[in-house]
Amino acid sequence: MRRHAPVMLTETLEAMPDRCDFVLDGTLWHAWHTAAMASRWIQVVWVDRDTHMIDKAKIFLESDGLLDHVQIVQWSYADLSRISQESARQMFDYMFLDIWVNMDHFKEADRGFSIKLDGELDMRFDTSTGMSVRERLTKTHFEELDTLFAKYTDFGQKYREWIVRSLLDTRKHKQFVTTYDLRERAQSAWLGDKKLAVIFQAFRIHVNNELGELELFLERFMEYLRPGGRCAIMTYHSWEDKIVKYSFKELVANGRWKLYNKKVIKPHRQEVDKNKAARSAKFRIIEKI
Ligand SMILES: C[S@@+](CC[C@H](N)C(=O)[O-])C[C@H]1O[C@@H](n2cnc3c(N)ncnc32)[C@H](O)[C@@H]1O
Repeated sequence: MRRHAPVMLTETLEAMPDRCDFVLDGTLWHAWHTAAMASRWIQVVWVDRDTHMIDKAKIFLESDGLLDHVQIVQWSYADLSRISQESARQMFDYMFLDIWVNMDHFKEADRGFSIKLDGELDMRFDTSTGMSVRERLTKTHFEELDTLFAKYTDFGQKYREWIVRSLLDTRKHKQFVTTYDLRERAQSAWLGDKKLAVIFQAFRIHVNNELGELELFLERFMEYLRPGGRCAIMTYHSWEDKIVKYSFKELVANGRWKLYNKKVIKPHRQEVDKNKAARSAKFRIIEKI
């Protein structure tokens, strides 16, 4: 199994506060960023919502010799009270999120994330809870689907309505069970792969409540960060970056917080040339005074 290249690793390490004993990494995957921090001196609590990703991370952490003295928790990073209880840690020095899906999600056909592989239409990070895309599509009605596409796509109203009607008409005679059921419907309506990818992304964000989890984290993280500690968030989509930007701005305006970087941090050209996954990354860091 190959480990992917981490995005803005140097910047992530540079943003650590001088005194840094306890780190929370809310988005584990291959544990690249914070495995570089974990040592006898720095303890990291690793969180990922996806058990498949945790199983993979364990293989890497074991080969790095880190598995025996780390804590791994399978929850959403927004579940800070449970994470704090489980890890017996009330305050962190550095809280780090690197938010998005990851390439492994798209490689595993049976997770349903990829438009290119045939598999069950699921797309949940945590398959033990909530509704899969397949279940949603079985139960949803016009307004719900239209609102979903209005929130998570840039389709115009007429186009949106046409897609929603086309999905609901199909459902009268054929259930959407697999990714290819959705793909075939889209292809027969002359939708290309780009549009289909946007539809898949909208369903994925919806079933995982991705923006809602980020908002919850931003409402809660303050009480788990010690004074002088920093919260660092990397995003890959303008929706998420905006949520982080305005939430940090509000904290600074209310006092007791300062921005570590006045301007958003983006990867250097050389990094993007080597790693395409970095091209849309944005990194913001705030410090508790
Ligand atoms: C871009 S990857 C993180 C990469 C990681 N920094 C590394 O070095 O390998 C994002 C990870 O966040 C996880 N994730 C997404 N939403 C989450 C949530 N609400 N809570 C916890 N983990 C989440 C995904 O399962 C995925 O493994």
